Amino acid sequence: MRDLQVIRPGGRLRGEIQVPGDKSISHRAVMLGALGKGETVIRGLLRGEDNLATLEAFRGMGVEVLDEPGDVLRIRGRGLNGLQEPQDVIDCGNSGTTMRLMTGLLAGQRFFSVLTGDRFLRKRPMKRVVVPLTGMGARILGRAGGEFAPLALKGSPLTGITHQSAVASAQVKSALMLAGLYADGPTTIREPHVSRDHSERMLRWFGADVRPFDGGVTLYPGRALQGREVTVPGDISSAAFFMVAALIVPGSELIIRQVGVNPTRSGIIDILRAMGGQIELLDQRDCSGEPVADILVRASDLKGVEIGGALVPRAIDEFPVISVAACFAEGRTVIRDARELRVKETDRIASMCSQLEALGAQVEARDDGMVIDGGSELGAGQVSALGDHRIGMSMAVAALRARGSVTISETACTATSFPGFWELFDASREV
Ligand code: S3P
Repeated sequence: MRDLQVIRPGGRLRGEIQVPGDKSISHRAVMLGALGKGETVIRGLLRGEDNLATLEAFRGMGVEVLDEPGDVLRIRGRGLNGLQEPQDVIDCGNSGTTMRLMTGLLAGQRFFSVLTGDRFLRKRPMKRVVVPLTGMGARILGRAGGEFAPLALKGSPLTGITHQSAVASAQVKSALMLAGLYADGPTTIREPHVSRDHSERMLRWFGADVRPFDGGVTLYPGRALQGREVTVPGDISSAAFFMVAALIVPGSELIIRQVGVNPTRSGIIDILRAMGGQIELLDQRDCSGEPVADILVRASDLKGVEIGGALVPRAIDEFPVISVAACFAEGRTVIRDARELRVKETDRIASMCSQLEALGAQVEARDDGMVIDGGSELGAGQVSALGDHRIGMSMAVAALRARGSVTISETACTATSFPGFWELFDASREV
């Protein structure tokens, strides 16, 4: 994989594309497939590096995974108590979802396990799952009192708890629900705003007793999970790069087929529409318990907006590319209540500010967000993905409206969530 990309500006986006499978849903399909009774057949699984880390983790615990032609992955589930002790450290790579969800899942197993990750992941906060899991009876050790990986887990009996999460985080919620499958009573998680609900939907799809309520969710243990067929929709977080690209390059009209439009993830559509973006959802349908649609995007004149509150978790991974859209909007865009961006793969407030500024954008970092004054032209230049997949892809979109070529370094990381991004980016543009 080349680690450097040169993007020439312009090239309207026309026609139809499909983006790879949803990263969050792919992780959950593999995890629940491994814990299910009988076979799980997954179509459209994302083969990004993050998801391959999850697959490898389960292979290392004795789960048979068969890769079949036609994009079919067959998992021979081992049931809730059928996993084997891994012989080696589990490497989660760059994947926060793998590490946090696995911490919950492994807390109640009858064996010892160690989770580690790359230099980015080993700096990300883990106490948000370690502390409540410890409250359930888990035994977990990590660096800095459990804040940083590697994490070592000695499985133990768990009790159900009620946990009030300080942040709206699907990873925290999901880790506790997965641990809750092994607890002696119900596990309730409350969060300040609703985070993505893929775990709730997938757990229900596999037969678990999950009951959402206003402000949280309760998982009732005791039911076995049953292997299922899962079709993974396209990832709206990957589609977002093409949505913004089509909005900002004049003359574009693009259809992105088969994209997941779960309301807990579709904040990007609401935000871009509020900015004046022409976006239509076509043929809305259901796919393995998840809403799906084709997304039609037409180039539009954008205007600045204010973004905060409950909208933030519904678009949490899209802020890098939203900040790009804001650069080409008329007026000011203010992003607030988004402090979580500082603990993603990189500090995404600092990362986007530094890389957009390098091209001449008017951006200001705030503790919990960004202020972007649109309308100033971006110049040619050299930027970096900084090893963060979504920063690299966002800068590629920004380059479409620069005055000259933009060179982006450290781009190999896009394979984390979007293998084939650069090829699709080229193919979707008329250059
Ligand atoms: C994810 C949840 C989000 C998101 C991440 C994937 C998931 O993280 O940023 O890319 O699959 O549950 P948080 O739970 O930390 O908000």
